[in-house]
Amino acid sequence: DWLIVGEAPGAEEDRRGEPFVGRAGTLLDEMLRAIGQRREDVFIANILKCRPPENRDPHAAEVEQCLPFLQRQIELVQPGLILVVGGVAAHNLLNTDEPVGKLRGRVHYYGERQIPLVVTYHPAYLLRSPAQKRKSWADLLLAQDVLAAAGA
Ligand code: URA
Repeated sequence: DWLIVGEAPGAEEDRRGEPFVGRAGTLLDEMLRAIGQRREDVFIANILKCRPPENRDPHAAEVEQCLPFLQRQIELVQPGLILVVGGVAAHNLLNTDEPVGKLRGRVHYYGERQIPLVVTYHPAYLLRSPAQKRKSWADLLLAQDVLAAAGA
């Protein structure tokens, strides 16, 4: 039911070929555990499928090249809810440049199937700004409520 979408693999993710297995991933695991979900039971993906040099923000052309892969992942997984972590993923999926602080806390809808989508802070940002964890917690509860209301 849950599809989580981040930005791009970091060094550790690129080495292992798995998303969110570095420090941010450990926090993501904890966030999931807090709402009774395990990494094994959700699908985790990124906008970019390889690591940009020096972890810079993805260029538009790179996003354009990778997006069809994510779109296919969404078609195959058929998630009940998409949880988007961080501005890069949110901006590219929602076609907006509003800051995460404005996009979080409410439900958006993605694509033809109008999949409910909730935006929250990126775990790497939460590691730097732990005071925002409370808002992220509220976003996770919102996402959980959306799924519960859909009978998932
Ligand atoms: N940050 C991301 O956005 N994705 C990862 O897979 C790891 C860190």
